[in-house]
Parts: sequence; C-alpha cells; structure tokens
Amino acid sequence: MKKILIIGAGGQIGSELTTHLRSIYGQHNVLAADIHSTPGEEDFVQLDALDAAAVAQAVRENGIDTIFNLVALLSAKGEANPQLAWRVNMGALMNALEVAREYNCSVFTPSSIGAFGPDAPKDLTPQDTPMHPTTIYGVCKVAGELLSNYYFQRFGVDARSVRLPGVISSQALPGGGTTDYAVEIFYAALRGERFVCPVPHDRFMDMIYMPDVLQAMVQLMEANPERLVHRNGYNVAAMSFSPEIIAAEIKKHIPGLEMVYEIDPVKDAISAGWPNLMDDSVARAEWGWNPQWGLAEMTADMIETLGRRLR
Ligand code: SER
Repeated sequence: MKKILIIGAGGQIGSELTTHLRSIYGQHNVLAADIHSTPGEEDFVQLDALDAAAVAQAVRENGIDTIFNLVALLSAKGEANPQLAWRVNMGALMNALEVAREYNCSVFTPSSIGAFGPDAPKDLTPQDTPMHPTTIYGVCKVAGELLSNYYFQRFGVDARSVRLPGVISSQALPGGGTTDYAVEIFYAALRGERFVCPVPHDRFMDMIYMPDVLQAMVQLMEANPERLVHRNGYNVAAMSFSPEIIAAEIKKHIPGLEMVYEIDPVKDAISAGWPNLMDDSVARAEWGWNPQWGLAEMTADMIETLGRRLR
C-alpha cells in the first residue's frame, strides 16, 4: 500500500485528487498538504512547498513513499509575475525531487499543453516535437520535464508526469490559467449570467474532465516502470473544442446562455501558441491511457454536478 503526500492539496486538482486517492488507498495513507490550512481536515499538514525542510519532515514523519507535487502558478498569472512563477513552479518541483531522492519516493508532477510553443504542430501535436514555449509557465513545464528525467537518470528517482490539457471540474475553481474560461462558462450558464469570453471564438485547445485526470494520475503511477520509455511529459488528450463549440453544447441544456467576447490579449497570445489537439498514442501504448469523457458527456455531467452545488 502506498503512503502518499499531496502537496498543493487545496487547489483545483489537489482537492479532488485527495478524495480520490483516499478512496483507493485509505484515508490515513494519503496526507494532504497545502500552504493554506483546512480547519478540521484529518491527515492534513500545513506547509510551504518552497520550504524543503518542511517537505522533508512531512515525508520522514509519515513514512511517505509517493509525492504528488501539484504546486504551480498557471499560465496567465505567470505572465503577470514571471520571476515569482519560476520561483514557485521550479522551487516546489526541485524540493519534491530532492526529498524524493533522499527518502526514496516516487514523484508525480503535472506538465501541460503549455509546454508546447508556436513551432510545434497544432493538430495531433506529437509526443516528441520541438518544444519552445513563449510563456514562463511553459518554460517551467519543459524545464520540469527535463529535470524530472534528469533525476531519474542521475539518481534513480521514479519521477513521472503527463502533459495535461485544460482541466474542467465542478469542485474547486482553477485560477490564473488560459483554459479557465471552459470552467467559468458553466458557472455563468448555471447562474443565468452573461459570459464574457476572454479567448477568440474559434480558438481550439485540448481539454480534459477531472475524472479522466484522476484516472491518468493513478494509472501512470501504478504503471509497470519497465514499460515507461518516456516517463515524463506524456501527452494525454481527451477532447478539443473552441469557445463557440462549448457554448453550443451548453445551450443544448441551457438555451438562454448569452456569451460575448472581450479578448484578453495575454490569454489570446498564450492560447495561440498551444496545440489544438495532442497526439496521445504514446501514453496509450506505454501505460494504457484510455480517456472516458468527451465534450457531450462532460457537459451534461458538469451541468448536473455543478448545478447541484450551486443550488
Ligand atoms: N490550464 C493551464 C493554464 O491554462 C494549462 O495547463 O494555464
């Protein structure tokens, strides 16, 4: 049985990953950590991911063997403060890898569609292709993939990662990302508010629904290491759509949805450099990636689940 530490457990992915992993590995085998305290939560430790000694202490005192490092400033927020984004995104990963080296842990870190830049093919973006991102977020993701591979080759640290599309979920909100619009549009639709879309109507991006994200993380971390040739930065694709396509899908359920465009120049520039749809055949071949949620199923479930939460 794994003993898991989730760093950044209060975020969009962390909050649902904590519940999911506890349902698989048991409540007391999953320690949640975040910089913000969660009053009353069991098996929780408050720590700053940039404090290496605090991360080491949590691992040592709890017999941790697997670390999920989910700490990151997202793409748009990163452009507002690139120095901070580098310090947080790389600092948290470096600490996780170093502690993993010392205490013999596995490490999962999300990479992203943001790791690609304008010179990568947009359609069916290959697993191995030029990676020259133009955001500090993307620079951190490429550096993070390389650093994770380095820690594996040099020190034998079992570090693994996937390049996540924009994550759509009904619990915690994302914050500061370019793909956030695809979550926010559901809140507006369900609240009967006009949605102001910050990216162009025909801008395609990869997206993924949270249950598939959780599945990818568990599947990759449970995968037979002998089958993992790439280890870090697996493309995982699930669906691809533009704002006008998701709006049309939501309107099948909520016909009154009103959407206007006020293009955010930062998000426009960022998303213009990202894939339309990644080729995920390597993840399928090396560890059995097999997404379950497409646009129609995700939209129906979001409206149902988020609708219940907002009532
Ligand atoms: N969702 C992230 C962002 O938009 C991409 O990985 O920044």
